[in-house]
Amino acid sequence: MLRVVVCVSGGGTNLQAIIDGIANGSVFHTEIVRVVCNNPGVRALERAKAAGIESVCVSPKDFEDRGAFEAALCRSVEEASPDLIVLAGFMVKVPTELIRKYENRIINVHPALIPAFCGKGYYGLRVHEAALARGVKITGATVHFVDEGMDSGPIIMQKAVEVHEDDTPETLQRRVMEEAEWVILPWCINLIAAGQVKVENGRVTVTE
Ligand code: GAR
Repeated sequence: MLRVVVCVSGGGTNLQAIIDGIANGSVFHTEIVRVVCNNPGVRALERAKAAGIESVCVSPKDFEDRGAFEAALCRSVEEASPDLIVLAGFMVKVPTELIRKYENRIINVHPALIPAFCGKGYYGLRVHEAALARGVKITGATVHFVDEGMDSGPIIMQKAVEVHEDDTPETLQRRVMEEAEWVILPWCINLIAAGQVKVENGRVTVTE
């Protein structure tokens, strides 16, 4: 069994996609052992509870400084002894200590086709606002390993999504989630659980 800790900040629809994938058998040999959240009272926590998954909320507001928050965050992830850490809409910069310790064992879903619309300041709805402002006709989602940069780690999978002329950031976000994020994130976890994902020289290959 692949022990997965899922880190969330908000709505938790990507968390739900993983929960559903495990429940319907499209994600094999995987168990979500804990959900870690940095925001109290968000929908993602309700989703974890409804699925019977233990959750821990670590809010920066409860700590004196960033260092204390980061230490508590690392602790709450590591206590669960994960094989894989999944950032599913997690709006916190992951502490370097955790990234180094879990090299190629942390994945993130980003709502654009990296290297477009990624890096500092590109998260959530802002990504879709930027895509619409630029007038791109195709956008999508990316699942990648997390390294010490911003959205710069090895890419595991990407899926393209059409932009419609009458899109708002909200309608585009929804389509990217439905057609790409909720599909490729559980898929990648399944591939990792099956041992089919290899990283070499910063590039990913998926084996049969
Ligand atoms: C998702 O679109 C995810 O790709 C994005 O935030 C949303 C979270 O939705 N993540 C980022 O922008 C990270 N850079 P969710 O809470 O409903 O899964």
